Amino acid sequence: MHLGVIGCGKMGTALVSGAIRCNVLLPQNVWGIDAIDAATVAFSASTKAHHATSFLQLAENCDTFLLATKPQDIATACESLTHALAGRPALVISLAAGVTLSRLEKLLPENARVIRTMPNTPALVGKGASAYCLGTLATPDDQKITHTILAAVGIATEVSESLLDAVTGLSGSGPAYGFMVIEALADAGVKQGLSRQKSLELAAQTILGAAAMVLETGMHPAALRDMVASPAGTTIAAIAALEKNGLRHALHEAVSAATQRSKELSSLS
Ligand SMILES: NC(=O)c1ccc[n+]([C@@H]2O[C@H](COP(=O)([O-])OP(=O)(O)OC[C@H]3O[C@@H](n4cnc5c(N)ncnc54)[C@H](O)[C@@H]3O)[C@@H](O)[C@H]2O)c1
Repeated sequence: MHLGVIGCGKMGTALVSGAIRCNVLLPQNVWGIDAIDAATVAFSASTKAHHATSFLQLAENCDTFLLATKPQDIATACESLTHALAGRPALVISLAAGVTLSRLEKLLPENARVIRTMPNTPALVGKGASAYCLGTLATPDDQKITHTILAAVGIATEVSESLLDAVTGLSGSGPAYGFMVIEALADAGVKQGLSRQKSLELAAQTILGAAAMVLETGMHPAALRDMVASPAGTTIAAIAALEKNGLRHALHEAVSAATQRSKELSSLS
């Protein structure tokens, strides 16, 4: 695979760096292009990949393309790519939030095989949670390529496009919920007398550890929670306080609000 990265910003660079780190991609097989020259230069300095000076050069050297511009720049980027491909077949993987498969298929050449993805910001530190859905012409090989690239910076799973708004509400916006929980726990620790720095470290590592236990043991979170809640102990007292104050309900409402907002934004794009 020869990958052309269109938009060498945070996500494009994070995905390529992760894939190179995991030997999924070789830097000599990657080309990047950006509307801002400095971004292309920074991309190739950090990944050791080539930087393309034109869409034509990118299209001549690559068979797979990562669309990593902001959603509002997707139409311009697709137009440049379509022109440069001049009918050659291509796999195009889009990261743009809210830009549907049918819109991408309209913007790209009619023989383009398109895949739409929803990554999240922890991909920047190799702990992403991404979902993707396949366009009408995408093949099983295209699915494998996309999965491998996304899995290089975390986990990846295929969903139908109708579920991508739910993915946005859960894992796309989810890092913000995690940050708020960690911040609130750290504040609570400070209230109980811990220093700010120790409290923040303990809070973040505790959430990281809980998540790792769920993923590594495969056990249900309720079973893991029961293991630390001894009769008449401290943890069950805290659990009762969390239930009383509606932690579960707040999270249901958060995911539902973000999913709804994602649907609204997709319908506007
Ligand atoms: N950052 C995230 O957490 C996150 C999460 C999920 C999805 N995404 C998606 O990833 C995409 C990229 O986000 P980001 O945070 O990396 O943005 P970014 O602003 O860091 O990078 C986008 C880059 O695209 C370049 N660009 C704009 N128009 C272009 C064009 N016509 N041709 C070539 N380059 C062009 C910009 O100069 C910029 O460097 C977005 O569509 C976003 O929806 C991002």
